[in-house]
Amino acid sequence: MSVKEYLTIEDIDLSGKTVLCRLDLNSPMTPDNRILDDKRFRSSLNTLKELDDSKLVLMSHQSRPGKSDFTTMEPHTQRLSDLLDRDLIYVDSIFSSGTVSEIKKLGNGDIMMLENVRFFSEESLKRSAQEHATSHMVKRLSPFIDVYINDAFAVSHRSHLSIMGFTWLLPSIAGRLMEKEIHSLSKGCYGSEGMCLYVLGGTKVDDSLKVVKHVLSNNMADKVLLTGVVANVFLAAKSGNIGKLNMDFIKSQGYADQILQAQKLIKEFDNRIGLPKDVALDKNGERIEEGIDELGKNTNVDLYIHDIGLETIVSFSEEIKAAQTVIMNGPAGVFEKDAFTLGTVELIEAATQSQFSVIGGGHIAAAVEQLGMESRIDHVSTGGGACIDFLAGEKLPGIEALKDSAVKYRAK
Ligand code: 3PG
Repeated sequence: MSVKEYLTIEDIDLSGKTVLCRLDLNSPMTPDNRILDDKRFRSSLNTLKELDDSKLVLMSHQSRPGKSDFTTMEPHTQRLSDLLDRDLIYVDSIFSSGTVSEIKKLGNGDIMMLENVRFFSEESLKRSAQEHATSHMVKRLSPFIDVYINDAFAVSHRSHLSIMGFTWLLPSIAGRLMEKEIHSLSKGCYGSEGMCLYVLGGTKVDDSLKVVKHVLSNNMADKVLLTGVVANVFLAAKSGNIGKLNMDFIKSQGYADQILQAQKLIKEFDNRIGLPKDVALDKNGERIEEGIDELGKNTNVDLYIHDIGLETIVSFSEEIKAAQTVIMNGPAGVFEKDAFTLGTVELIEAATQSQFSVIGGGHIAAAVEQLGMESRIDHVSTGGGACIDFLAGEKLPGIEALKDSAVKYRAK
């Protein structure tokens, strides 16, 4: 993709302008609201530092409605302030009259953070740029904004309001992080020679199922290896018995319907979907290895699956090392718990030995960093689902909206 399909920071004089910058600061958090990993913050700094002569309004989301870490942007403001070593203004609303008067008061070099955009329910509607442009949020804020920047690659696979709506009305450009992601990921799997392997884990089962279907049916991956909760859904689809606790967890996350989808995928692509042969169960923090065939048979012992088992770690690692390109997204298990880090660590280690490795963002990127392995991976993306969709050759709505806006801007 040519960078000049969309505008970048050089293309518009931003000095003295009021700039609305959409970041993705969505990060893992502790139950008492502390940010556990600030990779996305650090990745946004280049853009923010270049805008030190603008009046900067920042916008981000944290988590999703209903989740325990769906919280305000106050801790995020503080973390950014620490990283930039300067004060930031935080307002606890998105487009109230108080917020608008704060925006009007901004001076050159000021930075202001708006509240979590997902507190506004229309944010998460899937709409076109033109439809979102009619929302209250866009109508209320855009008269006070000169330029919109999308530096939120990680959420640009969602056609959400704050990603699309402003691009319809305002000159819109890609931030530095967005540019870097597009540039690095363009060298990735899509269209590459040799064995291409996707290794999908974590808890976002709905996103992963879409990827499995897309990359296998379009021959963009030779094979997909599954770990984490995604694998549990496929194991349930195959054998029907992964233990009551694990089934209840899948249901509690709203993924019961995905079991049927997984069954269809297994039927269509059976030998191209690699599932764990064994798992590690969590018995009061202790790691208990169990073969898949034994799972759920002993009804007196019902334990959570918290990692892939040793045999699976060995066989998946061999496949990963032999691949030309490895795209890995989502941890293999609950790697935050000491006894269950093994699968995630070993699969990342194997990926460093493949020809070209990409790690999707979120929890697995945090693991790579904690392990000090970032320099041995070709690209650690800030995007999870966005990275996967991009590599699968899908058009990301946020990037498409920037391209459309560039065409409009140039025509003026
Ligand atoms: C992510 O963490 O992948 C992005 O912030 C997008 O979050 P979402 O999957 O809740 O839309």
